[in-house]
Amino acid sequence: MDIRPEDPTELPTRRRVRLLSRDDRLYHVILAQQFDRELIDHLCRIAEMTRIIADARAGARFLNTILSHKRAMLYFTQPSTRTFLSFAAACQVLGMAYNDVRDPTTSSEVKGETEDDTVRVLSQYFDCIIMRHPREGFAERMANRLNGMRRTIPLLNGGSGKDQHPTQAMLDVYTLYRCFAESLADRVRHDSERNLFEGKTIAFVGDLLRGRTVRSLTYLLARYPGVRLLFVAPKELQISEDIIEYLERNEIVHELKYDLPEVVGDCDAVYMTRLQDEHDKDGETKSIDLSRFSLTEELEPKLRRDLAILHPLPRRGELDTFYDEDPRAKYWDQMRNGMWMRAALIAYVFNVDSVILDHYHSYYNY
Ligand code: NCD
Repeated sequence: MDIRPEDPTELPTRRRVRLLSRDDRLYHVILAQQFDRELIDHLCRIAEMTRIIADARAGARFLNTILSHKRAMLYFTQPSTRTFLSFAAACQVLGMAYNDVRDPTTSSEVKGETEDDTVRVLSQYFDCIIMRHPREGFAERMANRLNGMRRTIPLLNGGSGKDQHPTQAMLDVYTLYRCFAESLADRVRHDSERNLFEGKTIAFVGDLLRGRTVRSLTYLLARYPGVRLLFVAPKELQISEDIIEYLERNEIVHELKYDLPEVVGDCDAVYMTRLQDEHDKDGETKSIDLSRFSLTEELEPKLRRDLAILHPLPRRGELDTFYDEDPRAKYWDQMRNGMWMRAALIAYVFNVDSVILDHYHSYYNY
């Protein structure tokens, strides 16, 4: 069997997911489709437990020992503030040392070394690679390359072109999970019986065509039957056909909308996004009028009192700073949640999530 397909993105999703697993467990973290409901719920609980344990000095010290024998490489050749720093902080939470390459002009790539070789070189010095790359499919191709190495290490995707950003989507679900859960017990409960997303209306707003966070988050939310998804964007930037087909296949209620003021009063959560004009060929989207796709101060009287306002950031004008100190603004929380979720994900990949779980249960009541 060829375990190193040149272009894994051409394979059926099920096969792609299998190539990214080890012993029926998630190994490389590349696609949101790798996460089923049980795994999402499990990781939200591990993230919550990690955050609670870290609150006490002894707990933080314990967490620090979990991966103190491992090293991570943060290979980020596309700009990043939050994802880079929260992965770095997550490594520190677990006691894992890390190093980074952010500017390929300081590496042997300037001597003509291919990116493929660079990644394989990195794999010899580190125990995992966390990668952000401007090209879709690159992280997945590299994960499959690493499968062919005698020393295989996991690769985590911190954003791949316009395609996917699975760890951002996981922190987004965790943030929503915290908003919709009624109690701490709800957040760390063992069973996955309760579907916190049932009956909730969540709107994605902005550049849905090129926003990778929205694509990944849609795949995750589709694991929760009973959720209702609204895609609110100008025609030119509407969500792509492959995502709509996916939702149809999974019988998830979804509607395409073209005006935020019309639907905002109906929402339990709004997920705002910026115009991704770095993907323009010739500034073709710069003139699109986004005024009907912005959360402005004037919309405030329409908003529900328990609305959750999310944004992966960075923002432009689509999210008014008027909301910054409003308790409904969850975009600051998203960043901190990202650190805990990424720590949970790294722990899972290294198969030490059970160490966190056991520690939690021996020290806390829930
Ligand atoms: C997002 C990204 O890089 O895709 N940012 C992030 O990771 N928090 C969103 C964006 O750049 O618009």
